[in-house]
This record gives sequence, structure tokens and C-alpha cells, in this order.
Amino acid sequence: MRKNIVAGNWKMNNSLQETKQLLSELVKQDKSSQAEVMVAPAFINLESAAQFLKESTIEVVAQNMHFASNGAYTGEISASMLKGVAVNTVILGHSERRAYFNETDELLAKKVDAALANNMRVIFCFGEELSDRKANNEEKVVESQIANALFHLEASAWENIVLAYEPVWAIGTGETATPNQAQDMHQFIRKTVENKYDSAVANSVSILYGGSVKPTNAKEIFSKEDVDGGLIGGASLKAEDFFAIVNAF
Ligand code: PGA
Repeated sequence: MRKNIVAGNWKMNNSLQETKQLLSELVKQDKSSQAEVMVAPAFINLESAAQFLKESTIEVVAQNMHFASNGAYTGEISASMLKGVAVNTVILGHSERRAYFNETDELLAKKVDAALANNMRVIFCFGEELSDRKANNEEKVVESQIANALFHLEASAWENIVLAYEPVWAIGTGETATPNQAQDMHQFIRKTVENKYDSAVANSVSILYGGSVKPTNAKEIFSKEDVDGGLIGGASLKAEDFFAIVNAF
């Protein structure tokens, strides 16, 4: 059975004080929900956040990591370092990492392997640019992003993979894919996974939608058959909005 997940990607926002403030507001709002709830603060605040949420069902996850286990990679963070501060899930392949830090499918495949080797769960992000969609190329692009970074994995590894479809044109733009556009793509993604593996893998992988999800549109997007939750940027920075989205399930 696939899980419903709502994850807040805080990106490069919130000082330590602001992190604690937002977490204390989130904890107050956290009632029993139909979805697993995750938040991804900045690296430097992960340990405090994980400590703060120790008794909570809200999981603290990382926004990125390096593929090597240690070594001369100035400014980077490894999987074992994340595990050492009780962070067991990592977001990989976010479009901002791809666009501003030149992360390629090949690099991401290495990061995925490193995370899985450390028994971490991966939220793997991908999605087409506006020009791809205008050229009717969105399925091809998405298929190759998934295949290049994930199709070398054994079927059994997929229990630790969560997919996040984030059309680049909808991230932080206020523009959202329509619920039907999201459903069509999610169905295509599930079919792509089924074609490579089997229906058991395809039907158990959670596929999140990301890109300007808000309290006003979450319910309709989440009601779609193949949408299992959301990766939320801007709206995750306000506790009330984030939980309105969580409660859309
Ligand atoms: P957004 O970001 O909700 O602000 O569009 C989504 C994301 O980047 O994951």
C-alpha cells in the first residue's frame, strides 16, 4: 500500500530561531492526519529540528547530500552525517539543485546509491521545463530523468524511494499544473515504473506532486488517483498553510 506524504521543503529559509518558532507552531497543529508529514530545514538546523521533533510524528528530512561517505569535498554533507543527527530521509534532484548546482542524472544516480547504501529513504525529484511541455516532450523528459537515476536499482530498493513530480514551470511561480495535468503525468510515471519493474513496485511507490501547492488547490490535486501527496515549498513556511495542505487529505 502506498503512503500519503506531505513534505515541506524550506529551501534556504529560516534561521535557527525561526526554525524553532515554525516547528513549535507545527507541533501545535499536528493532529492525527491521513498523511506522513515531513519538513526539510537547512542543513545547519537539522540537528536542532530533529531533537525538537523527537516525540513528534513529523519527520525531519534533508534537502540534499553528497554521494561520497567522507573526504575532500569542501562544504558538503554525507549520508552518514545525516544519519548521525537522526535524519533518515533525503530529497535528491530538486530542480533548483539541477539548475543552479549543475546536478545531472548521472550524479543523482550516485547520490541515490549512497543514500540507499546508508538505509536512507530518498524523495527523488524530477520534472520538465516549460519549453519541454510546449514541445509536447514532457513525458520523454520525465521518463529519462527517472530511468537515468533510478532504473539501475533492484526492485527491492524501491521500498525506500518516493517520487516527486515537480514541473519546473510550476515551482515558486504561483502557476500550478491542473489536477488533470498532474494526474496524467503521475499515471504515466506509474506506468513507466511498471514497465520497467512490475505492478507491485508501481503500485507501492508514492508519487508526490510539487509546484505551487496551496491550501486552496491541495484538496483537488490530492484527490487524484495517482497523486499520493505533495512536496511543498513556499506554503510550507507558514504553519497554518502547511497544515491546511496536510489536512487536505
Ligand atoms: P513551491 O515549491 O511550492 O514554492 O512551488 C515546490 C518545491 O520546490 O518543492
